Amino acid sequence: MLFKATFLLSLLTSSLALPISGNAVEKRALSVQNYSQFTVSGGVAGNALAEVNAKFPINLSDPKSVSAEDVAILKAARVVAESAEVDAGGFNDAIKAAGGQKTTAGAALQRGKIKNKVLKLQLQVMFLTVEGAQGKDTAKQLAAEQKKLANNVKLDKEAAGKPSTAINFQGSSQP
Ligand SMILES: *[C@@H]1O[C@H](CO)[C@@H](O)[C@H](O)[C@H]1NC(C)=O
Ligand SMILES: *[C@@H]1O[C@H](CO)[C@@H](O)[C@H](O)[C@H]1NC(C)=O
Repeated sequence: MLFKATFLLSLLTSSLALPISGNAVEKRALSVQNYSQFTVSGGVAGNALAEVNAKFPINLSDPKSVSAEDVAILKAARVVAESAEVDAGGFNDAIKAAGGQKTTAGAALQRGKIKNKVLKLQLQVMFLTVEGAQGKDTAKQLAAEQKKLANNVKLDKEAAGKPSTAINFQGSSQP
């Protein structure tokens, strides 16, 4: 009973710092969201990386403190972002349906797709950084993903100010 009440309280206060074993203090920064809430593809191009960081406010200066729950959310969100690119009803389909990247609608969707790649890759960089700091050997994969991320951030910046279109895609960051 006491355990149950304590557990419930910890759920209610999960956004606050929770002491864990040792002297580390673990914080939960993220909550489960639908893709429609964490997509950054709408609006205009140019600021995708900052938009992703605002939607997933984990502290990469202190990766050791990131909780396992937050890592699980980052991973689940990355899977959905990937699906939103390549699976049925995703960006690739939408761009095709719009007549390819050269049409006005297709070009705006392509910019949304690049922003979605920034989302996908930054999520991956985030959890690989955290897992690396927490003892897993992620260095090689992290370097590869950082390179892809830098490439897509560059493409996004090159299109700065131009309209980008999001897609309606089902999925959530529920681990
Ligand atoms: C996600 O979408 C589903 C279906 O529309 C909805 O029932 C659910 O409440 C949404 N989840 C969040 C976290 O908003
Ligand atoms: C992030 O972590 C660093 C290093 O521990 C700390 O100095 C900083 O205050 C943290 N930032 C936030 C927003 O919590």
